[in-house]
Amino acid sequence: MDKYNKYDYLKEQLKKSMTINGVVQKRYYHSLEVAKKALELNERLCLGLDSDKVYLAGLLHDAAKLKSDEFLWEIIKKEFPNELDKFKDSKPIWHSLAGPFVVKTEYGINDEEILSAICYHSTGKANMSTLDKVLFVADYIEDTRGGNYTKEAVDASFISLDKALKIILNQKVDFLRKSGKIICELTFEALKYYSENGEEC
Ligand SMILES: [Fe+2]
Ligand SMILES: [Fe+2]
Repeated sequence: MDKYNKYDYLKEQLKKSMTINGVVQKRYYHSLEVAKKALELNERLCLGLDSDKVYLAGLLHDAAKLKSDEFLWEIIKKEFPNELDKFKDSKPIWHSLAGPFVVKTEYGINDEEILSAICYHSTGKANMSTLDKVLFVADYIEDTRGGNYTKEAVDASFISLDKALKIILNQKVDFLRKSGKIICELTFEALKYYSENGEEC
């Protein structure tokens, strides 16, 4: 990972923002693992993505995770003024929707491909870019999340990115349904799109 030492200042900033009462939160280590897993997917599946973009998307994808709901909602109101009904009851995804604003204003990253991947890393969406998919999958299967529930997606990630993506979308919808939580329209749209258009797996 030496190649990415040039981004250590961003890592330090993220670490600081994820330290509460002197304790570095798990979310920081998860962010490092997602960056690692995203790079691994890019290489293993020969996706040909710019590895700096892959690294930065992974590292910063949860940069807004520890912000207050009030702060996140204020950003969403400004960034998605016509879609508030769609997002208002889905608090767990607010940090991803507000993520691009935080990453732009606090970390100085303006690359649209990175920002898009961060924006949709929780929900997915129809017609995702390869970087969107890599981050979505890496976030779900990074090594410290582990456990049996990720095994099917981990196995699929050795074969095809779309296959892993579809498994994760199905598992997310199943989990949200069973736990009576609200499922964001974007996730339904993603599942529909990839059931109809995903590569044959
Ligand atoms: Fe997240
Ligand atoms: Fe995450």
